[in-house]
Amino acid sequence: MKKSVLCAAAFTLLFGFTVAGGAMAEDKGPAEITLNADGKKPAVFPHAKHQSGSLTCDDCHKALDVKQMSNKDYAHKEGCKSCHKEKGASTSCSTCHPRKKRAIEGC
Ligand code: HEC
Ligand code: HEC
Ligand code: HEC
Repeated sequence: MKKSVLCAAAFTLLFGFTVAGGAMAEDKGPAEITLNADGKKPAVFPHAKHQSGSLTCDDCHKALDVKQMSNKDYAHKEGCKSCHKEKGASTSCSTCHPRKKRAIEGC
């Protein structure tokens, strides 16, 4: 009796780990993405940071069109800013468009 309960618990644990292992093997894509890198005002998109909080992959990959996120009009609305407003994340320009590094800054 006791033994079979233990076996069931062990099986659950093992199965649980197998599922977690499978999730970790999933392709998470690049950790950092620069959108419109060659443009006048590139935007930084810390992909990994967007995966470590409460967001799910589907919040972007299903609910939104990630291929449009390098489009200014889309990005400044539903692509990036709408969610930032909704979740209380920063909407200041420099959050997404860090100032260009100046070679002689600080001299
Ligand atoms: C906040 C929005 C957002 C979230 C959340 C997010 N992603 Fe992404 N992901 C993007 C964007 C934007 C790109 C770049 C798309 C492009 O320019 O082609 C991308 C690219 C990728 C790529 C590279 C291949 C491709 O489709 O371009 C993979 C793989 C990926 N994401 C997987 C994931 C997984 C897995 C999760 C959840 C753990 C996740 N992403 C969560 C926005 C997001
Ligand atoms: C579905 C919601 C959602 C979308 C879409 C989204 N973000 Fe975010 N973003 C967040 C949240 C929430 C945070 C705050 C994360 C934190 O503080 O841990 C954040 C934080 C950030 C940060 C600051 C990260 C840091 O270092 O603290 C940058 C930069 C950023 N997002 C850029 C973008 C860009 C660019 C896009 C569009 C391509 C985008 N985000 C789309 C939810 C979103
Ligand atoms: C939440 C992230 C985010 C914030 C905040 C944000 N932007 Fe953007 N912006 C983007 C993304 C993503 C793009 C599309 C990719 C690109 O062109 O860099 C973009 C595009 C642009 C472009 C077009 C660049 C080009 O070469 O076509 C300009 C100009 C711009 N933003 C200015 C601003 C200004 C000014 C602010 C502040 C009032 C601002 N952005 C705030 C994410 C953001």
